[in-house]
Amino acid sequence: MVVYWKEILAVLVCYQLYCVEGYCNRKTYRRPHIVLIVSDDQGWNDVSWHNPEVLTPHMDKLAKQGVKLENHYVHPVCSPSRGAILTGKYSHRLGLQFGSIIPNEAKFLPESATLLPEMLKEMGYTTHMTGKWHLGDCKKNLLPTSRGFDSFTGLLRGAGDYFTRQLFGVYDFWENETVYRPQEGSYNTDLFTQRAVEIIEKNNPKTSPLFLYVPYTSPHSPLQVPQKFMDMYPNVINPARRRYLGMVSSLDEGVGIIADALEKSGHMDNTVFIFLSDNGGNTDVGASNIPLRGIKGQLWEGGSKSVGFVYSPRFFKQEGCVHEGMIHAVDWFPTILDMADFNKDKKRNMCGTIDGVSQWTYIQTCRGSGREEFVYQIDDYVAKSAAIRVGDYKMIVGDPRVVDFSFGPTGNISIKLVDPNNNDIRLFNLKNDPTESNNLASRLPDKVKKMKIRLDELRKDSLPIEFPVWESNEIGSPNNIVSTEWCSV
Ligand SMILES: *[C@@H]1O[C@H](CO)[C@@H](O)[C@H](O)[C@H]1NC(C)=O
Ligand SMILES: *[C@@H]1O[C@H](CO)[C@@H](O)[C@H](O)[C@H]1NC(C)=O
Repeated sequence: MVVYWKEILAVLVCYQLYCVEGYCNRKTYRRPHIVLIVSDDQGWNDVSWHNPEVLTPHMDKLAKQGVKLENHYVHPVCSPSRGAILTGKYSHRLGLQFGSIIPNEAKFLPESATLLPEMLKEMGYTTHMTGKWHLGDCKKNLLPTSRGFDSFTGLLRGAGDYFTRQLFGVYDFWENETVYRPQEGSYNTDLFTQRAVEIIEKNNPKTSPLFLYVPYTSPHSPLQVPQKFMDMYPNVINPARRRYLGMVSSLDEGVGIIADALEKSGHMDNTVFIFLSDNGGNTDVGASNIPLRGIKGQLWEGGSKSVGFVYSPRFFKQEGCVHEGMIHAVDWFPTILDMADFNKDKKRNMCGTIDGVSQWTYIQTCRGSGREEFVYQIDDYVAKSAAIRVGDYKMIVGDPRVVDFSFGPTGNISIKLVDPNNNDIRLFNLKNDPTESNNLASRLPDKVKKMKIRLDELRKDSLPIEFPVWESNEIGSPNNIVSTEWCSV
């Protein structure tokens, strides 16, 4: 008799995921408000609980009273991570496995993907976003308000000047689908915070569950911050590091103001407050991932291991703890839906369509994990490299550095592939060797063989990337505003 263990396991996992705890037949459930704050390029060593030099008292307070996520992973750059968070799918299943979306590139989160805010809206949530989108902007139906958000205030692309709101001379700041010009000289980080506070104050905490997504651009370059935040670091000599840390502290101030607004408006008692970084820090522009190896964009731990915490007065009974269970960016989609009680009343089932698993039970109890493996990134098309994790082991195939961008003065970009022909295999036991200094590949050939088989299974559903796809000469266009209607794909 053939026993289909995988199928049996899948059924058990699906059932367990959505029907345990006696919730299945409950009629009413008070859906919590969910606030998801994502920082941009904040390194592992750039929060106070990893590095006392960093001043993040507001995050620190929430993290201390909540659950610190110490084994939390994302993809190595912005667009893939944001795509994974909002869809529950790995970047290679979204066609986003190579790099971030760069200006004038006709690349975007597939229109067929269902996004977290769309699901939450269906469940009665009001959904708002303020911050950076970076999941495609070359036509109107790719913008946040077409993809599940009731409102959007912020930038569509990957970065921009914090005061002029331009990138390479092109203006990028929006309210919903209209160009928006805030008061001159105002600082983007403050604008996102203010907008978040307005949304919170306008919402009725008793009748309207709120999903608020705040992907700040801080502390991503350009390194710009009001002087008072730099003055917090008189002993930091490296000017880039000093500016960068000032940006981290201005971000922290924003987190504190948002938390305050949630308290004052009566939301906080019923809120789940999530904070994470979208990828590792870029040490070329002030960040630090010490003691991890590598930086943003790379397959080393420094590219993908992300700081994070969850705070919730309603759901967490114990005061503060450190969660060591493995979590990946793709898990936020089912985890947040689980918080909102998805499926427990309607018995819907997402198993098989997404890569994430709900970690909600494990976060609440502060132990364990719903997964024992994950994908750092699999790119069979451009960089031709991959890294996966199974238990304590990590295997990197190909060049761990992936890609080298260089930007010209007018915003023209040249992309130098590091080495798509590199076939090196690296194997690390991260439990014993968290800094990836001891390559075990030649000593453990059986392990490598097994992981290669797993990698081949995981890469099967890759969506191809067409890259680069240049369709626009919009830079330098007469009105110098990001155009949202130019790609033909
Ligand atoms: C953006 O959308 C929200 C929600 O529909 C609305 O309240 C707001 O007025 C809109 N803003 C603009 C500038 O259209
Ligand atoms: C950008 O364009 C200029 C002018 O054509 C050229 O000299 C420069 O090398 C380009 N830079 C990059 C990074 O492609």
